[in-house]
Amino acid sequence: MIHPVILCGGSGTRLWPLSRRDFPKQFTRLLGENSLFQACAHRFQGAGFAAPLVLSHADFRFMALEQLGEMGITEATVMLEPAARNTAPAVLAAALHLQAKGAGDDLMLAAPSDHVIRDVEAFLAAVQAGAPAARGGALVTFGIRPDRAETGYGYLELADAAACASAQAAPVARFVEKPDARAAEAMLAEGRFLWNAGIFLFRVDDIVAAFEMHAPQMVPPVRAAVEGAQPDLGFVRLDEAPWNDVPENSIDYAIMERAARVAAVPVECGWSDLGAWDAVWREMGPDAAGLAQSGEVTQIGCTDTLLRSEQDGPRLVGVNLKGIAAIAMRDAVLVADMTDLQAVKAAVTQ
Ligand code: GDD
Ligand code: MG
Repeated sequence: MIHPVILCGGSGTRLWPLSRRDFPKQFTRLLGENSLFQACAHRFQGAGFAAPLVLSHADFRFMALEQLGEMGITEATVMLEPAARNTAPAVLAAALHLQAKGAGDDLMLAAPSDHVIRDVEAFLAAVQAGAPAARGGALVTFGIRPDRAETGYGYLELADAAACASAQAAPVARFVEKPDARAAEAMLAEGRFLWNAGIFLFRVDDIVAAFEMHAPQMVPPVRAAVEGAQPDLGFVRLDEAPWNDVPENSIDYAIMERAARVAAVPVECGWSDLGAWDAVWREMGPDAAGLAQSGEVTQIGCTDTLLRSEQDGPRLVGVNLKGIAAIAMRDAVLVADMTDLQAVKAAVTQ
């Protein structure tokens, strides 16, 4: 039995102005009819998966519940974090909750909700391929063949190029979270590094033990927050006082860079993390550039350009633009250089 643990407490700042503090990207309809969160929850509705455990910031609780309802998912447990502490405490809280329910020997699959996965069958096959290694005590990740020196991802070093091409779990020699541009270039050139998809499979007891070893200061306050959790209108609300003492960190830095037994299953499943607008542009395909036209957006003679008018945004017309992203909403418009969209985060902070 695999317990899907869906992480949807991030704020998605780089996708401003569509993604807002009180309506972050994973709940928006960025591509197609369903939100990224809904698409994520839907992937785990098949056989072999338990009802999902959803971890989110308390402010997003009604959005999460409503969107699960729209997908006909009524069995989910939604755990609420009183404050954002990044992914490590969320994963640990989920693991301790499952342990308390007697599921310590089961596998859990920690899944971010900001991904596109085009080939769900291939992804689920990779999860099955990783299960024996996870049952054997490895912390299993999923590896994507890199096609650029992306600095926003983690990198997994495998033994050689052959291991990167197999569909089996292989030991990870080194896990490098968010390298600088030079290190990313070097790893891309090596040919034995994969991107970390950010999706993790492990035994519940094993990940708790990994936290006890590599992030011991996180365990007592998270444990107290889980033990003191209260039911609240159908949600499980983590206890605020101990949660406030929880140090902030991502699972990548807190655990994956340090753990001894990490394995990766290489997978080709049309994966992408919609972290910034250039990722959305790549995902929308060539139709988003050039002469594509839709109701409110007209592009004439534009190349490498993304123009979107969101919800009840204004009519947007681009003429002879090169390498521009422009996102219009009723109350705000972003115009930015397509090659530097990570900078939107700093702009929003400012
Ligand atoms: N519940 C909860 N609480 N969820 C959170 C929190 C939190 O405090 N912070 C972030 N999340 C959710 C986000 O909503 C997202 O779905 C997921 O956790 C991952 O967080 P990101 O902030 O998007 O991580 P990242 O993309 O920078 O990096 C991770 O993913 C990359 C691939 O997508 C890392 O695992 C990288 O190594 C990896 O390459
Ligand atoms: Mg992400």
